[in-house]
Amino acid sequence: MHGVVNQAIEGLITKRFGPEAWEDIRIASQCSDTTFYNNHNYSDSVTYELVVNASKTLDIDIEILLFEFGKYWVLTIAAEKYAALLHSAGKGLREFLVNLPNFHSRVMLYYPEITPPEFKVMENSDTSLELQYFSKRPGLQPFVHGILEGLSTFFETPITIDLKETKLEDEYNKSIFLLHF
Ligand code: HEM
Repeated sequence: MHGVVNQAIEGLITKRFGPEAWEDIRIASQCSDTTFYNNHNYSDSVTYELVVNASKTLDIDIEILLFEFGKYWVLTIAAEKYAALLHSAGKGLREFLVNLPNFHSRVMLYYPEITPPEFKVMENSDTSLELQYFSKRPGLQPFVHGILEGLSTFFETPITIDLKETKLEDEYNKSIFLLHF
């Protein structure tokens, strides 16, 4: 995964649990990088090892860590560094979500080397919206859930988020989220 993702994991752990906890997790993950660069792609296994070892070291479920990481990604990283990009993709939460399938193609103007997730918006009524998430990477649906929660706060639009199902479809990990406004 791209260096900005690993940097953000380091940032979240250091901020909430301190630099010693981060150092323990980095060593347990056999991660020799003491700095992650934001112009470099790292193997996905680096990111997964960091999350698995953070879960073990901090005694927090992986799903909860990924969910918290999703919120942190929006409310700290994106809000502080990419607020203009977030705002350019929608005047409010609903418009942002309808545009989400194209969002990472804008991100790729900054980071052309990434393998972004895919999204489809299937149903969009006045009160609800069905969002489908596809990735060849497994197990990241709690991260998406946390990002959606963060977007709800960022756009000051309360929603409820239900994960309807997660399954493997044509080599893609597919999750369906039902959002109620
Ligand atoms: C300014 C905001 C954002 C930026 C700069 C950004 C950037 C990135 C980058 C660089 C990656 C790593 C991909 C790779 O290394 O191959 C990534 C992954 C990912 N992003 Fe975004 N992103 C943003 C917002 C969002 C939003 C709003 C969502 C919606 C849920 C999202 C969902 C994901 C997911 C789920 C992944 C993990 C990769 C995967 O599922 O395969 N991101 N993003």
